[in-house]
Amino acid sequence: MNSDFQSAVSVDSYDYPPPSQWQLALCDLMKKYGHKGGNFSLDVGCGPGRFTEMLRAPLFERAFGVDSSVNMLKRAAARSKQENVSFVAGTAERLPFPSGTFDFVLLRYLLHHLADIPKVLLEVKRVLSRSSYCVIETANPEVLAQRPVYQQFPDIARKDLMRWPRISRITEICFDAGLEVLGVDTFKDMRGTQSKDEYRDWLIKWEKNGGGTSFWRLFDSDERSRYAKYELGRLDQTGETYKRQIFTESEFLVIRPAGMQK
Ligand SMILES: C[S@@+](CC[C@H](N)C(=O)[O-])C[C@H]1O[C@@H](n2cnc3c(N)ncnc32)[C@H](O)[C@@H]1O
Repeated sequence: MNSDFQSAVSVDSYDYPPPSQWQLALCDLMKKYGHKGGNFSLDVGCGPGRFTEMLRAPLFERAFGVDSSVNMLKRAAARSKQENVSFVAGTAERLPFPSGTFDFVLLRYLLHHLADIPKVLLEVKRVLSRSSYCVIETANPEVLAQRPVYQQFPDIARKDLMRWPRISRITEICFDAGLEVLGVDTFKDMRGTQSKDEYRDWLIKWEKNGGGTSFWRLFDSDERSRYAKYELGRLDQTGETYKRQIFTESEFLVIRPAGMQK
C-alpha cells in the first residue's frame, strides 16, 4: 500500500450514528443463534463508542470498548455518559484483558483496517469465555463492487476493495483459529440522505472538505470535483436521491468457539 492510501485509511475521525434498527437486529440475531446475553461484552475497534453503548442492558451488564486510536477514545469518553460502559486503549492484536473474560465480542467494520486478521481472531478467541459468541460485522466486497461509485472510479474501487476480506475467507480464518461460523446474516442499512436538498448539501460539503469514511477519503480533490459534478448533474436531471452513501448492506457473521453445544 502506498503512503497516501495508508494515511487515508487510518484516519481516526469515523463517527456515524448507528442505524435505528441495529440493536434490534442484534437482539434478533442472538435469539436466533441461542445466545442468552451475559455479564461482559467487548467492542473491538469501538471507534467513537456508539455501538459499544448498545452492548449493555438488557443484553449484558457491562460493556467495554477498545480502540488503538487515542482520538477515537477521547471522542467516545466525551460522548458516552452511560453507566457500565468503559473505554480502554489497546490493539485488537493484543487485547488488554485476561483470557476467557467476555460473553460477547463485536468486531464492527474493523477487519478491513487490519494487517493480520488471523492474529486478531486468535486473540478474540482467547478473550471469549467458553459459551460465548462473537459477531463480525463487515461489508461484502462483492456487494460493494456493485455500487455505482465503484464502477465510476475503478482505480479507487480497486484500492478500496483490496482491504475487504471475502466472507468465505473470513470463514476460513475463523476455522483455522478454532472458531465456528454459525451463520451469516445480511443486515440492510437504509441510512443515507433522505431528501434532494440534504444530499446536495452533503455533496457540496464533501467536495470542499473531503472526509467521511475511509472510502470517501480515498478521493483527491480533482476526483471529488468530478464525482460531485456528476452527482449534482444527475440530481438536477432526475431529482433522484442517492440514499446509499454510507453502506447499504452489512454481513453479520455469528461465531463461537468450535466444538460448543448450541
Ligand atoms: C471504521 S471504524 C469503526 C468504529 C466502530 N466499530 C463503529 O462501527 O462505529 C474502525 C475503528 O477501528 C480502529 N482500529 C483500527 N485498527 C485497529 C487495531 N489494530 N486495534 C484496535 N483498533 C483498531 C480504528 O481506530 C477505528 O476506530
